[in-house]
Amino acid sequence: MSEKSALPVNVGIIMDGNGRWAKKRLLPRSAGHDAGMKRIIKLVRHACEIGVKYLTLYALSTENLSRPKEELEGLYNLFRTYFEKYAPELLKENSAVKVIGDLSALPEDVAEKMRSICSRSPENPQFTVVFAVNYGSRAEIVRAANFACELGGKMTEQSFSRLLYTADMPDPDFIIRTGGELRLSNFLLWQAAYAELYFTDVLFPDFTDKHFDKAIKDFCGRTRRFGKV
Ligand code: FPP
Repeated sequence: MSEKSALPVNVGIIMDGNGRWAKKRLLPRSAGHDAGMKRIIKLVRHACEIGVKYLTLYALSTENLSRPKEELEGLYNLFRTYFEKYAPELLKENSAVKVIGDLSALPEDVAEKMRSICSRSPENPQFTVVFAVNYGSRAEIVRAANFACELGGKMTEQSFSRLLYTADMPDPDFIIRTGGELRLSNFLLWQAAYAELYFTDVLFPDFTDKHFDKAIKDFCGRTRRFGKV
């Protein structure tokens, strides 16, 4: 007998549309990212409140690193603010903050703030927010394959999974993409093998808690078969 899905455990969000949100208002792209961060702050709390255990946010892809210096500087400033001011509040509330991706290409102070928050996160949190920063799924898989070569011997799906950035996290069971594009853009390709996908035209800064709830409701109404009949 097939059953409807319970609440997703790990929700991934591809937060697209900040630039278009700003353009529509004749504002610089940075204004769209500022509005995006305001949304993140609220959405993280909301996801925790409704009982989602992990929220995985695609904050910067490896490809995004080729954006104009000005735009990147603006994003780095948002990371500074978030990890200095907002992330510590989450730790106090027994939530964890994690970062996946290659931090070596970020300004050292930004990378350090992120590492510090991650290392001070509780071991048994009620909720975890994961930021994918300078993250690319193919690069992650190649990195893991290189570790596997160094280790030698045969890999299983389980042992290979443990070599990924997401080793200690559950796979995303639900991935939402805002901003109207219908693709995964190198986000959690291995981990998303059985994820349910949800696409919305709403631009990320306009993606309210209500939009999130609507997406979750959609997930809860789906029947997940994992390849079985
Ligand atoms: C994609 O929209 C979004 C990004 C490249 C950055 C996402 C970052 C944030 C939401 C804020 C970051 C803050 C923290 C604390 C993580 P786009 O700029 O590609 O939009 P477009 O497709 O409309 O141009």
